[in-house]
Formats: sequence, structure tokens, C-alpha cells
Amino acid sequence: MLLEATLEHLADLRSRGVQFVNVDPSTLKALTQSTSPPRSAPAASPRHSRAGEPSPAGRAAPDQRSAGSATATSFPAVSQHARTPSGVPSAQDSSGPPSPTAPPLTALPRRSPAEKAAALEALRQPVIACQQCPHLVQSRTQVVFGVGDPNAQLLFVGEAPGEAEDRAGEPFVGPAGQLLTKIIQAMGLSRDTVYIANILKCRPDMPRGSRGNRAPRPEEMDTCKPYLLQQIDIIQPRLIVALGGTAVQGLLGLQTTMGSVRGRWHEFRGIPVMPTFHPSYLLRSEEGPDRGHREKRKTWEDMLLVLERLQLPITDKMRGYFLKPAPTGGGSAG
Ligand code: URA
Ligand code: URA
Repeated sequence: MLLEATLEHLADLRSRGVQFVNVDPSTLKALTQSTSPPRSAPAASPRHSRAGEPSPAGRAAPDQRSAGSATATSFPAVSQHARTPSGVPSAQDSSGPPSPTAPPLTALPRRSPAEKAAALEALRQPVIACQQCPHLVQSRTQVVFGVGDPNAQLLFVGEAPGEAEDRAGEPFVGPAGQLLTKIIQAMGLSRDTVYIANILKCRPDMPRGSRGNRAPRPEEMDTCKPYLLQQIDIIQPRLIVALGGTAVQGLLGLQTTMGSVRGRWHEFRGIPVMPTFHPSYLLRSEEGPDRGHREKRKTWEDMLLVLERLQLPITDKMRGYFLKPAPTGGGSAG
């Protein structure tokens, strides 16, 4: 019975693109002894994708449209700075990198902000000295660990450092990063009140003489992902935003189009995950006929869902962003 359920679960995971699960040796041994099913529960626990809750986010009364429309496609920064208090913490010990299918994070004891900060600093040391991918050790300027509030409620997960991030040692500081910063500010937050990290901590190496950035390879992701998982374990964010396909693949094991996953809630070990477009994709879409207005609007709708779920304030102006049709000619966004 249990074996069947396990097989069914594994088949389900595989159908969603998951290629590896952590199974401890004793479980594996038990599984191979077909006469006696494993005593312990399956190593992998199910992850469910939940349909998005119907929500008023993204809709606004006609009078609200005009209110926000002046700032349309540019993700205007607002000065408002909103946070809700975080939960009450206590000590917790960590024991090695958790797997994506480890128990829900919500079941772990809470850590205090000071404990989280100390744990992240302790983790930073081995990460910045990591030598596991010799080719990336060769090519990188430095490891890009992550940035923000160790006690953040909201975690943004990107793909990998690009050229600018490799130089600065900080995630999302190049052109895509500047757009992400604007999105965060438009949400009434700042880079200091959220946490930002990548699936891969080193810039993927590029063939000599070529410019730009390449996507991480599966084996690079597999090698590096435990670091992100430990960051998530420490930070215990209330929500995660997965930026782009690599983050969706890394966190949810889903290999699919962004259009089919964004805009609704998924789950990573008990933490709600909102996939949305990668800011680099938004920048590329600016070359399209509507200058990326539609994709930016979708991204903003996803961020409104995030704000709602965090019970952070949403102003009429914020609801109105991008509601006006895209500009067709020159002139400023609006
Ligand atoms: N793109 C990413 O995914 N991460 C960065 O840090 C920068 C660009
Ligand atoms: N595909 C991706 O991987 N990311 C996006 O943001 C959009 C399409």
C-alpha cells in the first residue's frame, strides 16, 4: 500500500519534471526488498500546486485607472515603506542541506532575526569559498551570495549572476536588477526589506570573447541549489517569488512555459510561491510592439497577489499601474 503510494507519488513528481529526490539509504534498501515494504514514510513528501485564490488584485474602478496611468510602463518607485511584523521566533538547529522534498518549512521552529542573521553569515563563508564547479571557480570574479533582510517575509529567487553581479558581488544590480528594484519599490518595499538570491551563486562562464549571459546547466543547478535551500531554511520567508523559468524549475521542478504557471500560487515546502516573468524577459519584451506593456502588466498583477497575500497595503494608485493601454508612439510611458 505504502509502496504503491510512494510509486504513485514518484510518478507524479516525474510527470512534473522532477528528476531527483533524496532517499536515505535505509529506505532504498527497504524498497529493494520487495517482500517487506519500507517502515519509514517515503522520503519525498508531496508538493501540491494550488490554484490561485480569486482576488480583486489587478482590478480597479475606472476612476482608479486614470489615477495610476500617468506612470504606466515604468514601474514607478513609491516612497511608501510597508512591512508587517514577523512571527515570534525561537532557536533552531540546522543539519545539512535540506532537499526540495524535505518537510514543510512551516513545521520548523522559528528563529529570531538575530539568529537568522548569524546563520546566514555562517552559511556565507563556505558559499563564497565554494570550489565545487571548477569551471566557474576559474571564470568568476566572486560568488554572489544574496542580499537583503535575513528576516524578510518575501524572497525573490532569480537565475544566476550576470556580468554586473559577478563584478559587484550582489544579485540583481545590472539592467534586469534595476528593473527588479523598481518593481520592489513600486510594491512599497525596498531591497533592504526583502531578500534576493539566485539558484546559481556563480556567473555561468561564457565562451572566451563572447558577451552576455547564459542559463545555468542542470548539473550546475543541482550542485548549487543546496545553498539556496539552506538560505530558505534560515530566512523562512512567508512567500517566494520565482523570477523566470530557471527559478521555477529549481524550486518547483516544473519545466513549462511561464504563461502556464504565473499568476497562481504554487508551493515549496509549505511556502507559497508565485512564479512570474524574469525582469530580463521584461526588458527584452520592451522591443515588442507594445513595448512590453502586457508582460509588465501581468508581472504587476502577480506582485499585487503577493502583496495581498502578505496583507501589505495596496493603494489605488498601485492597483492602477499598467491598466491604461500601452502607448503606441513615442513619448514617455503612460
Ligand atoms: N539575473 C538573475 O537571474 N540574477 C541576477 O542576480 C542578475 C540577473
Ligand atoms: N521564459 C522564462 O524563462 N522566463 C520568463 O520570464 C519568460 C519566459
